[in-house]
Amino acid sequence: MTDVPASARREVERLRREIRRHDRLYYVESRPEIADGEYDALMRRLKAIEEEHPLLRTGDSPTQRVGGEVSSGFAPVPFDPPMLSLDNVTSAEEFREWDAKLRRFLKGEPGTYLVEPKIDGVSLSLLYREGLLVTGATRGRGETGEEITPNVRTIRAIPLRLEGDAPALLEVRGEAYMDRAEFAELNRREAAAGRSPFANPRNAASGSLKQKDPRVTASRPLRFYAHSAGRREGGPAIASHAAYLDWVRGFGFPVPDTVRPCRDVEAVLGAYAEIGARRESLPYEIDGLVVKVDDVALQRILGATGKAPRWAIALKYAATQATSVVEEVLFSVGRTGVVTPIARLKPVPCGGVTISSASLHNFKEVSRLGVRRGDTVLIERAGEVIPHVVKVVTRAPGGKKVVPLRKCPSCRAKLVRGEDRVAWGCPNPECPDQLKQAVAHFFSRDALDVDGIGEKLIEQAVVKGIVKDPVDVFFVGREVWASLERMAEKSAENLVQSLDRAKGTTLPRLIHALGIRNVGSRTADLLAREFGTLERLQEASSEALERVHEVGPVVARSVAAYFADPRAGRRIDRLREAGVRYDPVSRSAPGGPWEGKTVVFTGTLASITREDAERRVREGGGRATGSVSPKTDLVVAGADAGSKRTKAAALGVEVIDEAEFLRRGEGGMVEESGKAG
Ligand code: IVH
Repeated sequence: MTDVPASARREVERLRREIRRHDRLYYVESRPEIADGEYDALMRRLKAIEEEHPLLRTGDSPTQRVGGEVSSGFAPVPFDPPMLSLDNVTSAEEFREWDAKLRRFLKGEPGTYLVEPKIDGVSLSLLYREGLLVTGATRGRGETGEEITPNVRTIRAIPLRLEGDAPALLEVRGEAYMDRAEFAELNRREAAAGRSPFANPRNAASGSLKQKDPRVTASRPLRFYAHSAGRREGGPAIASHAAYLDWVRGFGFPVPDTVRPCRDVEAVLGAYAEIGARRESLPYEIDGLVVKVDDVALQRILGATGKAPRWAIALKYAATQATSVVEEVLFSVGRTGVVTPIARLKPVPCGGVTISSASLHNFKEVSRLGVRRGDTVLIERAGEVIPHVVKVVTRAPGGKKVVPLRKCPSCRAKLVRGEDRVAWGCPNPECPDQLKQAVAHFFSRDALDVDGIGEKLIEQAVVKGIVKDPVDVFFVGREVWASLERMAEKSAENLVQSLDRAKGTTLPRLIHALGIRNVGSRTADLLAREFGTLERLQEASSEALERVHEVGPVVARSVAAYFADPRAGRRIDRLREAGVRYDPVSRSAPGGPWEGKTVVFTGTLASITREDAERRVREGGGRATGSVSPKTDLVVAGADAGSKRTKAAALGVEVIDEAEFLRRGEGGMVEESGKAG
């Protein structure tokens, strides 16, 4: 290592410390201090030095999360003790019975119960030797799991090396899962790529971990929390589960964030009701709570029966499932041509809303389920995707089989099989249904955001041949709009004005609007920051695209393919001709409405949760912190705001209400536009 300058070594160490600290702030403490762009810059710097001085590269460096390959057989990993599962109860009554049984078994008090969220994800075992992650495995059948170390290493919430005084050997067990919003974004990307979306976050997590190529896993938004103990050699005696969670948190593991100690059954049931009431506003989906006897000595006395411990129980919530009758199976053609079978259902309430259709994903799924008109089916709402059909509950006698389509229901073109061999799509670039969807997408909220251009209007404009490309919409005159059904002089005038305003936009929105396969708003943002102008993006090679942090080969290929098509060039010329413009994008700034702002929330918010509000600030380039200081730029005061509001006033920090916060959050993106680009 003689030729490595000490200064490089010092900088590498500093950068790694910094990056680990930010991973921890983000995943363990949920209070990030820097924007994603700044984080990426630290990572790029570290990569650059390691490239220059390969001797400095070590396996536990944050740059080394992706590497190697999962062996095709997923090598077996024996567990000692085995990884257990949990018994379930589904009502307060059953939980009381379970508690009574414990008391009888113990001939005494079970003491404090610890209550944790139960996220339906994938159970993982993480083995550390001398503080370094050596093996990551799924639960498998409990006695033996499947080794997936290269994939586990890509999960940023999982430390590659333990912080502090690690025991010689430590096996931590927990759950890999996805947040709702990140899951929904992943599904949007999947759908845009013509692949079937994942049915729920659990399937998405499991599918992501079972990849042969860890780069795919790395591109998936997996999170992790530690929830139970495995093998251990060394370390202090630990008397309670709460102390265990504290101990592993100190090594850098996220732990469940609503853990709470409960004195007795009534306190547990109080938590069950209270968490149940705000279940939908948690950032992740839970299917229940896990109630654990806190005292480790009592846990030992209680032991396990077969596959589950006696000292813990899953206290489940009612599922967001319902049954209904299939009235018809329709086929919808998406923006990229993918044909999705949809079951029209007799309307049925499900998890608080009325459902009248459910996705059947693809033709393969239709034949797998064997769905027929008149069948009674079980449907499930998972995350933010539209509900899907889980299975057929009762078959309709003599029901007519659903035959997969051969031709596009819109333009009659012969359907072709997608790259994934599962999706079927319409290959006709002029297909009216694709065009309608493309136009709707172009002007949707996250793209150019024009309100007045709804489904009915797009339908007419496309059918009448007025619009043959989304950009044509800008060239349609007032009189032509006014001649369409349900349009009057006034509404035509308003629409033309809205369209004029929408011509001043931002580059991320414009890239997103183009509807490139695999490019959702997040990827559009990354591309905009990297290339700065549409022209530079247009000319970028696949290699240049792939070099963008977080852009994988699949996205790179679809972007390059999009711009290789001469129609894309014409579309961009037409955009310019229409007068569409955007601000130049600074390369390192996220460019969101909260860029560079430190925001503090206080009091109760009415329309969104605190977590959601803070996430919006982070995603918009700002920081959300807990306390008001002279560095605070803005305080958002909800109902019952108290001392923080007073302090803000004393420091002269601006205080706004929730409505204003929401307005600025949306307006920020638009505000930047309008200037020449
Ligand atoms: S404790 C010996 N705690 O639920 C105790 N499990 O249905 C074993 N799960 O396989 C697990 N959240 O993967 C525990 N807070 C939590 C959990 C949790 C989710 C999963 C776990 C387990 C499954 C059982």
